[in-house]
Amino acid sequence: MDIKLNLQNISKAVNGKLLLNHVSFAVPEGRIVAIIGPSGAGKSTLLSLINRLQDPTGGAIYLDGTNIQTLDVFALRRRVGMVFQQPALFPGTVASNIAFGPHLSGHELTRPVAEFLREVGLAEEFAKRDASRLSGGEQQRVALARALANNPEVLLLDEPTSALDLGAAHQVEDLITQVCKHHGLTAMWVSHDLEQAQRVSDRTVLMVSGRKIEEGNTASFFAQPKTEIAQAFLAGEIGVSKLQGE
Ligand SMILES: Nc1ncnc2c1ncn2[C@@H]1O[C@H](COP(=O)(O)OP(=O)(O)O)[C@@H](O)[C@H]1O
Ligand SMILES: [Mg+2]
Repeated sequence: MDIKLNLQNISKAVNGKLLLNHVSFAVPEGRIVAIIGPSGAGKSTLLSLINRLQDPTGGAIYLDGTNIQTLDVFALRRRVGMVFQQPALFPGTVASNIAFGPHLSGHELTRPVAEFLREVGLAEEFAKRDASRLSGGEQQRVALARALANNPEVLLLDEPTSALDLGAAHQVEDLITQVCKHHGLTAMWVSHDLEQAQRVSDRTVLMVSGRKIEEGNTASFFAQPKTEIAQAFLAGEIGVSKLQGE
């Protein structure tokens, strides 16, 4: 299996604080890797390095074997799409939101807006709707369509369903997994919902206090975590503060 993303010895220091501490792992092409861990573990920081919203202070990240620092940042962001917990849509219509990414980088949409809408389960009439007036679930579908409009190879998902009510969360979760399978996308999916992580991912990485504690095939990780910290985290026995040694 080809390696799509390779994180080698990644560190991120901000104001003398080590938010990420020598993190290494690889993401196989076409697979979904769940990133789990307590709040403050560095999960969002880690994702933000993959499409260069910020850069690591140590180590390197490779996409298809190429150090991402050597790539044009807009070209990188077309290849590596991102969906956040809050959809953060722009003022304007759904159609203009979907076209925004390609336009930003001087590209045209490769397919009609209606096709992207259909792909995320929204009727064609949504194209003209005001993006700010959609429900949370609909907004997250538009955010996904906007990411897909760049024909990405990788999706970075930062708790994409955690602001949604339970019904919408399940629908958006199913949608994202279907879209990933359909396009053969590689994904890094941050989730604080351990059941979701088990449903959606092929591999799981546990982060605590900026370190990678354990990684493995998702089924075996959850059935038989190897480290004491992973066992305690999965059992809910240790609170965040104790894990962080405070
Ligand atoms: N720009 C920043 N400057 C200083 N500290 C930050 C910055 N961004 C995040 N942090 C801190 O880094 C830690 C990890 O944050 P984050 O990556 O958001 O964790 P997670 O997504 O796992 O909850 C937290 O302690 C957070 O307060
Ligand atoms: Mg986070």
